[in-house]
Amino acid sequence: VTPAVMLRNPMSLVSNEMNTLAKNIMALIGTGHPVLNRVTSYYFETEGKKVRPLMVLLLSRALAEIPLEQRTQSLIDSVDVPEDPVYSRPPKSLLFERPASNFSPLDILHGIKPLNPLTKGPEPLPEAQFDKEKGILPKQRRLAEIVEMIHTASLLHDDVIDHSDTRRGRPSGNVAFTNKMAVLAGDFLLGRATVSISRLRNPEVVELMSNSIANLVEGEFMQLKNTAVDGDLATIDHGSKVLPAASEKLDNRVHDYHVPRAVGKGYTHEQILETAFDYYLHKTYLKTAALISKSCRSAAILSGADKSVIDQCYEFGRNIGICFQLVDDMLDFTVSGKDLGKPAGADLELGIATAPVLFAWEADPHLGPLIQRNFSKEGDVVRTAEAVAKYDGVKKTKELAEKYRDLALQNLRQALPESDARSALEFLTNSILTRKK
Ligand code: FPP
Ligand code: MG
Ligand code: MG
Repeated sequence: VTPAVMLRNPMSLVSNEMNTLAKNIMALIGTGHPVLNRVTSYYFETEGKKVRPLMVLLLSRALAEIPLEQRTQSLIDSVDVPEDPVYSRPPKSLLFERPASNFSPLDILHGIKPLNPLTKGPEPLPEAQFDKEKGILPKQRRLAEIVEMIHTASLLHDDVIDHSDTRRGRPSGNVAFTNKMAVLAGDFLLGRATVSISRLRNPEVVELMSNSIANLVEGEFMQLKNTAVDGDLATIDHGSKVLPAASEKLDNRVHDYHVPRAVGKGYTHEQILETAFDYYLHKTYLKTAALISKSCRSAAILSGADKSVIDQCYEFGRNIGICFQLVDDMLDFTVSGKDLGKPAGADLELGIATAPVLFAWEADPHLGPLIQRNFSKEGDVVRTAEAVAKYDGVKKTKELAEKYRDLALQNLRQALPESDARSALEFLTNSILTRKK
């Protein structure tokens, strides 16, 4: 087991795979439509944290240290994946090259490099060579690409939903290309991710990863609020068309499922808080941890590991995923938008009560009505932020995140033999809590 030097950068064990990740994804998402190409690749052009693929790759590497005789050989063997005959080819008329400046005036503004509009579609997966040196199977590498594609699709949609205007330090997809294109590009990425999932030729993995997509949407739905910002009901593209009747109906339905509705209905403060935390953690699992846990489980399945290892890998992903989102919700209170590369303080503005607020609410029942009305009255946001500061909402959130981190570390030790890759995963798990963005 290599100490210090390597462990300072857990990436180094899988740096080859991480370095080729974006390029491989580009090959999976190529289409003949030049503008669609531009929008779908937009978020891959800047460096994200890529923590999900990093986790899948390191986990795959660590799983490879489990002796072969403890694994199902048949699962390790590759199946022959046939060439995909249906890779979308655009009609001839679309295949002309246009200078980047003709796509959109925003292209010049943001200096996006034009991409080759003609992309071949994915190469079939290479025959799996079980390489003892590297250990990562071609299907696991593809899984890492898939998880980043799904995540990126969800970010394109998320920035529309959240009315965000920046991501990774530049204009978000919705701002650079309009809501419509951002949504469609996200859908396209999901479509291609699904093609790649099915090409792994493992029904259990297909089920898991498909479900992770559904979970993302369920989580996001649980978070929807009665805060119709301009543009929720109207489209940004067309401006003024608001449908008040539809909005009223929708608001009621959303509220029926939203816990703070219970405020003032005869429940005790403790009961309401317990349910609110339950709701929040379930939402957090769905919107963030499900994708991570289901891809960790898939990596284990693809390695041919036995059931107990597969279950521990799933739990690891679940715990680290919840830890990750708790930290995200904390950073929304503590870090500036400039440092985050995306809007800070966004959750309160969006009417969303995350863990720091729930902890403040626990200490100060008077926050209930503010949460219930999604901080929509003047002064609500400031008052809530003050309560979070006064009642250590951020510190308590950090402590909760630490609990999930510790559970994740336990899962790793139970699932995996000691190895450099496992140490790197431990390092990564610990670093979730010290990240600044
Ligand atoms: C980021 O959360 C968003 C997510 C973790 C999930 C978003 C999911 C959807 C929009 C549902 C649609 C899903 C797919 C697969 C297309 P955040 O807003 O708290 O984080 P941020 O600060 O990075 O914006
Ligand atoms: Mg967002
Ligand atoms: Mg969001």
